[in-house]
Amino acid sequence: MQEGLSGQAGVQLYESRCDLAEPLYPDELEHIRRAVPKRFNEFCTVRALVRRGLKDFGLPRPSMVPGERGEPRWPMGVVGSITHCQGYRAVAIGRSCEVRGVGIDAEPNHPLPGGVYQRISSADERAAADQVEVLHPDVCGDKVLFSAKEAVFKAWFPLERTLLGFEQVQIILSPDGLFTAAIRPSAPRQRPVGGVPARLSGHWDLSEGILRTAVVLPSRETD
Ligand SMILES: CC(C)(COP(=O)(O)OP(=O)(O)OC[C@H]1O[C@@H](n2cnc3c(N)ncnc32)[C@H](O)[C@@H]1OP(=O)(O)O)[C@@H](O)C(=O)NCCC(=O)NCCS
Repeated sequence: MQEGLSGQAGVQLYESRCDLAEPLYPDELEHIRRAVPKRFNEFCTVRALVRRGLKDFGLPRPSMVPGERGEPRWPMGVVGSITHCQGYRAVAIGRSCEVRGVGIDAEPNHPLPGGVYQRISSADERAAADQVEVLHPDVCGDKVLFSAKEAVFKAWFPLERTLLGFEQVQIILSPDGLFTAAIRPSAPRQRPVGGVPARLSGHWDLSEGILRTAVVLPSRETD
């Protein structure tokens, strides 16, 4: 995935396998102070990664209290996405003049709980995921599929501001580490300003037990 992300102009990935300390702003502290230690630590860790990323862009890290739907709120001119799971935290950051949006997700390489796979996928999606498992027997194709949908949602939501059901995003995985996503919003979009295309392409990989997925929406100029 890193290769895929770094192939997109302006997007950088910052990762950590352990918790990092980060001073929080008073409003961030107020937002997170009642969280369990695991959640508190991941909240701090990704903000430490955001600080690194923004520093590379020559920017300070502002307070980043999540938006009303949990979305990260980036400073003007910046787009990005955040993920964390057991043993892994990551932030992808790009400049909005080069990248319209980005979504990343990470999941432990374990199968989905019983019954979930059928609920979040179609027969065509499962057939493609089966092919991934044939060529990569160490990869949980069901979890890659789930993760890819989460990554698409994270790229979609900040631009379109509407929810997506799992059935509204069809993911076709490819064994070569790529996937396509076809998005079918439930109602005609009220605001075309977001401009997320109906078809996206993304990347997946397995790194040290963690499945990672990413989609990057190029700026309109490079469509
Ligand atoms: C929001 C969601 C995608 C997060 O995924 P997750 O696997 O539970 O958790 P991750 O650790 O990978 O990601 C968490 C980060 O996602 C980001 N996030 C949360 N809500 C978001 C949203 N609405 N839009 C974009 N990013 C969002 C946040 O930055 C969060 O980190 P933070 O709270 O520390 O700032 C998931 O909880 C969710 O609500 N899913 C339902 C929507 C969905 O997936 N629909 C089907 C897809 S087609």
